[in-house]
Amino acid sequence: MDKILILDFGSQTTQLIGRRIRDLGVYTEILPGDAALTGSILRGGKGAALKGIILSGSPESVYTNAGAVPDRRIYELGLPVLGICYGLQRMTWDLGGKVEPLPKREYGRVGVSVAAEKMDEADFGRTLKFLSGFDANIPLSLIISAGAWPQPGDQAPAFSAAFTAWMSHGDTLTQLAPGFRQYGTSGTGYPAIVAHTQKPWFGLQFHPEATHTERGTEALAAFVFGVCGCVQGWSMEKYVEEICASLPGWVGENPVLLLISGGVDSTVAGALLLKALGSEKVHLMYMDTGLMRKNETEIVSANLKRLGAKNLHIIHCEAEFLSALKGLEDPEAKRRAIGDLFIKVQERELARLGLPDSCFLAQGTLYTDLIESGKGVGKKAHLIKSHHNVGSPLVDAKRRAGRIIEPLDRLYKDEVRKLGRLLGIDEDIVRRHPFPGPGLAVRIPGEVTREKCEILREADSIFIDELKKRRSPAGNSLYDEIWQAFAVLLPIRSVGVAGDVRKYGWVLALRAITSADGMTADVYPFPAKDLLEISTLITNTVKDIGRVTYDISSKPPATIEWE
Ligand code: XMP
Repeated sequence: MDKILILDFGSQTTQLIGRRIRDLGVYTEILPGDAALTGSILRGGKGAALKGIILSGSPESVYTNAGAVPDRRIYELGLPVLGICYGLQRMTWDLGGKVEPLPKREYGRVGVSVAAEKMDEADFGRTLKFLSGFDANIPLSLIISAGAWPQPGDQAPAFSAAFTAWMSHGDTLTQLAPGFRQYGTSGTGYPAIVAHTQKPWFGLQFHPEATHTERGTEALAAFVFGVCGCVQGWSMEKYVEEICASLPGWVGENPVLLLISGGVDSTVAGALLLKALGSEKVHLMYMDTGLMRKNETEIVSANLKRLGAKNLHIIHCEAEFLSALKGLEDPEAKRRAIGDLFIKVQERELARLGLPDSCFLAQGTLYTDLIESGKGVGKKAHLIKSHHNVGSPLVDAKRRAGRIIEPLDRLYKDEVRKLGRLLGIDEDIVRRHPFPGPGLAVRIPGEVTREKCEILREADSIFIDELKKRRSPAGNSLYDEIWQAFAVLLPIRSVGVAGDVRKYGWVLALRAITSADGMTADVYPFPAKDLLEISTLITNTVKDIGRVTYDISSKPPATIEWE
């Protein structure tokens, strides 16, 4: 399987570069911009062959020395390199060109014109393949199948094209590095596309991964297939085959324990383990903390049984969790109490199950989880909220012993959904919105009680059911258009009337956001009719709620959850 390595210098869109290329059917891996390129990375790792390197954008400027410096070997390997935005500036700087601040930052849609009147023998093959990504007459399918490339003996044609690109940069190349030639110019007169005349090195000042860039996907495809010579080999079917072939040998006769949260990731991880290892070896443990959504435990256990789970351990520990939360109001104190208790119950139940020390621990960790927790990629582990499920002594000990299985650790969220469908998981589960590890506790600001959990569960399930029933103007269910929706029970009561009687009910906030990955979020712009009807339904059905509000804050500055 061919692989493209992306070196991350901190751009918001690095993930998107990876996603676009994977969607083209080529495996990508993201590493920190200054990662040492060791033997296993260069070999490709996990059966992959490294075919090219992409240098991402960055909020930094190359001349301040604040950003990561890539391993010089990227320029010595003979592999194709594509620099995007800062990545291009980085290459230019590293290879002897000049980069300086722009008089005015260039941001948004900018026209780019491409012109290549004269090409030498060497550029003709390589550079024309790259530039063909910008030719509006060449369809993506032809680029993928390499049918767009010039054939031996063809004359080098003059090439010209124009398109709109998405730019976001405060610096520009003021002198190309030796050996580079400019092929594209922005409407504002700055270098937009460059290529080396002898080496397979390319640079784009704009972001081909951004949807606003016309022919952006084609440009990435031209690099990946045309320049790097990749062949499509990344698909969920192949992924399943690979896991089913490798996991049994690694695990041997040992049992594997997976902690199930009920969310998409752990359910898909469970289904994959059951398929790869069979139901005897796989133990699934689920804790009913009392902080779950309505009917969660029943739904989770029915689903896992349907997937063939035999060793399913449901731990009822609501009382323990509620008592640990008693009197706690501070959000971080609540998260800590839940995290600590999770670990305690886990260890106790594991001991009770009597699984041997050689037992493996599996987790539904995604590629993006590793990136966010700073374990895999980048150095962006900025603690805004302590996500309790990132590490525990048990996980750390198992990791040290080499006994952690993370069968989804190379996948993005929507790849996990695709995998879930392939493994036959119910569409309802596959499409489910994310749910935080600490559960309803972070949706009940202030002290958490059983009564408040009951009220919130009821209101939340009405909200979610309505989103599933209602259609958007485009004809999709509102639930599917929204990335995450939930209700929050505020620690406030307000006065109202019910019949002729004064009512003093709780205030509920509804939250619904759209997002690509939860890192940033926009408020879902509900049609007013839906919001009004949902509000009425909730106040009519859940007698303790007297007032409903809609949270209209984006992330940033707010976070998605309230705590
Ligand atoms: P925030 O509130 O940080 O949430 O904007 C981003 C996404 O992460 C989820 N979230 C969590 N998930 N454990 C989790 O597994 C946690 O402690 C946690 N806190 C927030 C949140 O629901 C949203 O999808």
